[in-house]
Amino acid sequence: MTDTTDAPTDQVADATDERCPVHDLATDYDIFDPGYVRDPVPAWAELREACPIAHTERYGGSWLPTRYDDIQAMAKMVPVLSSVSPIVINLPDELTNDDHTGYNAAAPISADPPIQTWTRRLLLPHFTPRAIEPLRDYAEQVCHELIDQFIDDDGCDGAVDYAQQIPPRLIARKLGVDESMVDQFIEWVRGALELGLQDPELRVRCRKAIRGFFRSEIADRRSNPKDDLITALLQSEIDGEPIPEAMVVGMCNLQLVAGIDTTWSSIGSAIWHFATHDDDRRRMATADDTLWDTAIEELLRAYSPVTMARDAIEDVEFGGVTFAKGDKILMNFPGANHDPDVFDDPDTVILDRQRNRHVAFGAGIHRCAGSNLARMEMEVSLKTWLSRIPEFTLGDPNAVTWAGGQVRGPRTLPLVFG
Ligand code: HEM
Repeated sequence: MTDTTDAPTDQVADATDERCPVHDLATDYDIFDPGYVRDPVPAWAELREACPIAHTERYGGSWLPTRYDDIQAMAKMVPVLSSVSPIVINLPDELTNDDHTGYNAAAPISADPPIQTWTRRLLLPHFTPRAIEPLRDYAEQVCHELIDQFIDDDGCDGAVDYAQQIPPRLIARKLGVDESMVDQFIEWVRGALELGLQDPELRVRCRKAIRGFFRSEIADRRSNPKDDLITALLQSEIDGEPIPEAMVVGMCNLQLVAGIDTTWSSIGSAIWHFATHDDDRRRMATADDTLWDTAIEELLRAYSPVTMARDAIEDVEFGGVTFAKGDKILMNFPGANHDPDVFDDPDTVILDRQRNRHVAFGAGIHRCAGSNLARMEMEVSLKTWLSRIPEFTLGDPNAVTWAGGQVRGPRTLPLVFG
């Protein structure tokens, strides 16, 4: 643990806490505190100095690392820090038994090797740059159609009317499922990953609905194979045998859950940034591809949406603390991306930042399998927006709302054009 002797005295709170005798953030942080959700960067900076692996008893208890090197090291602690329950708050036991949790719930993200290894290997060919390129034209079409619906108005909600609408359409196209169901997909995924984090019944209900939906899609593909990801997974084999149906259901579930809130949040945060930073917005409106490449990485770094979790499967010492068997550890990839030991001026968005080894897509064996699709969606959605709406600002800054916990991003984003 870091020497905390030079911590400001008003931060030295609970001297009885042997683990980390500093400000209550270190012993009682709250990932759902509205101030933290709105802007977690100051809390990470304070913790990184005073207590780089903080602990809270809230929401069943968890640990929060804030240093880049620690998070990189923890990502390699497989399977001691297990991925079997990568949601930041576990379900209560009585609901866990009623839910499809465990390795096949959403492999590979909810699995450790060897299951993680082969399920990931099956997915990767479907998300190479070449495999997602055919979706680019469709992404452009979707973005233009959305903008057509509000461009003649004075403004719009950049989160609800635009950012939120793009990823579900793309993932529906990839899976080969009914695109007119996007509103339903959004509701399910928010229930599973956002609103359901603190409402376990809602979470279980939405997870069941998603699984039920994919079970019937799978039944359909068995008699009507299509050129889509569901059919491809059904036709895949492991050790000469078809993949168990429960595993295919889990892998499809993951595409929906991993592909919607995440990318929606990244696109929304980028639009929030351009609405609040005139110079950056004007610079990007005329940017070349080289600047776009660095800008997308920088926006991913600065506004990283995704925090994952691990569960310790045995007592393990790390960085001066002991994770006890069963403890939850938050993989604070967003916090790592603001570590000043790794990123110069980490809290400033530098659109042409050259050295940018960010971990917005995670690190180690679980690194995002959909990053090529996510980057393409960000590029197309932001370029299309700025080409048609180069001038815009926030309507009422106080009306902006953010979601946090597992996936952070704006959920209401009133914008005024011109
Ligand atoms: C900006 C958007 C996105 C961000 C920031 C993001 C972030 C992440 C992160 C941090 C992980 C690591 C999970 C862990 O360590 O436990 C991950 C894994 C994963 N992501 Fe993404 N993701 C995004 C979009 C997508 C999309 C569009 C898809 C595809 C539908 C996708 C599919 C996956 C899959 C399948 C994994 C699991 C990989 C494994 O466990 O081996 N993601 N993502």
